[in-house]
Amino acid sequence: MNAPVLNTTAPHKQHLIDPEICIRCNTCEETCPVDAVTHDDNNYVVDPDKCNFCLDCIAPCPTGSIDNWRMVGKPYTVAEQFSWNELPVQEQIELNAAAEKGDGEAEDDEAARLIAQAHQGAGGKSIAPASASKPKINLYNRSKPALATVTGNLRLTAAEADNDVRHIILDFGAQVFPVLEGQSIGIVAPGTDKDGKPHNIRLYSVASPREGEKTGANNLSLTVKREPNGVCSNYLCGLKKGDQVQVTGPFGATFLMPDDPSANIIMICTGTGSAPFRGFTERRRRNMKDAPGRMMLYFGARRPEELPYFGPLQKVPDGLLRKHFAYSRVAGEPKTYVQDRMRQTADEVAVFLKNDRTHVYLCGLKGMESGVDEAFADICRGAGIDWSGLRTQMRAQGRYHVETY
Ligand code: A2P
Repeated sequence: MNAPVLNTTAPHKQHLIDPEICIRCNTCEETCPVDAVTHDDNNYVVDPDKCNFCLDCIAPCPTGSIDNWRMVGKPYTVAEQFSWNELPVQEQIELNAAAEKGDGEAEDDEAARLIAQAHQGAGGKSIAPASASKPKINLYNRSKPALATVTGNLRLTAAEADNDVRHIILDFGAQVFPVLEGQSIGIVAPGTDKDGKPHNIRLYSVASPREGEKTGANNLSLTVKREPNGVCSNYLCGLKKGDQVQVTGPFGATFLMPDDPSANIIMICTGTGSAPFRGFTERRRRNMKDAPGRMMLYFGARRPEELPYFGPLQKVPDGLLRKHFAYSRVAGEPKTYVQDRMRQTADEVAVFLKNDRTHVYLCGLKGMESGVDEAFADICRGAGIDWSGLRTQMRAQGRYHVETY
């Protein structure tokens, strides 16, 4: 598909990225087949002269920030978009012009049709829980990073495990670096790639609650898996106490915890996708001790020795967190994924789903998204719930959240 010729006299749709929600993970730039997505130290943006509305970037975006559109007479330039901290409001003059076109005609518009199709993807548009605290975002970027000091780097998986997963604590000293449970930070690995360019910033979910590892500490923790040939993960996993790290962010304004003690939370994760849920659990444990809302975790790993925080998790009381583990590679036992454990405990899931205070969060391998969706559909079928309708409603109400990679 070639880039559409922009008619500057008639209003048309422009594809934009919401700088408030974008977590700067670079997925859209890596996905775009025509190099229309680009970035500077501040923002990821879409070049209106290159974008051909193929929508390849929409489904992989973990936050839905990519899925923003404005009717414009004259497209916003790349330079203008770089300077934004938030999306501009829809220009009134363009809205009027669009209204003149009539709703029916707008519906026929090719881009509108494709966009509607993309919305049916597994992730969908993200909306923060209504009760979530207001996050701070984008306080630091590559040209003005925060400088954190490593105060801990602890291996979480057993010595004989396949995966080296670490709990890394970063202290911000006197710098202000506020985060909420569910937000991410960017890590700038030092050095350059094979082309002499600075390495891409890599995103990591914060694994601690907003107060840090200890109440009053100005620190946060990350759960990092050493990836073969992973520049940033090997850099982080190799850090020693006292080392300094350049940090950007915080990022993310939708994958946030409801700040409501009566909210029920179903958390589904694999491997390091558990990071935000450690933050959620600690928040409830420390600040909402007698919360009437219930929390339930489905956690998938190869074996118990591979499951990050296995030991500490055993000590979290069931009253605070109902835990369901799914192991895929235990000798002599059938391969079990999180979606299989969900089916095995369908009654519990159905009770949660029937309650309109329930929020669902998925974090981890992209591959689990469809499996988990099918498990929800099966469970709902058995319980007389229309899953597709419920999921749409939960998304619109900020009660269904997906962050997969
Ligand atoms: P598998 O044994 O098939 O790799 P990892 O250890 O690589 O971080 O993965 C975490 C867990 O997620 C593993 O148990 C892995 O199983 C499992 N997993 C892999 N693919 C999927 C999927 N499509 N749905 C759910 N879990 C998956």
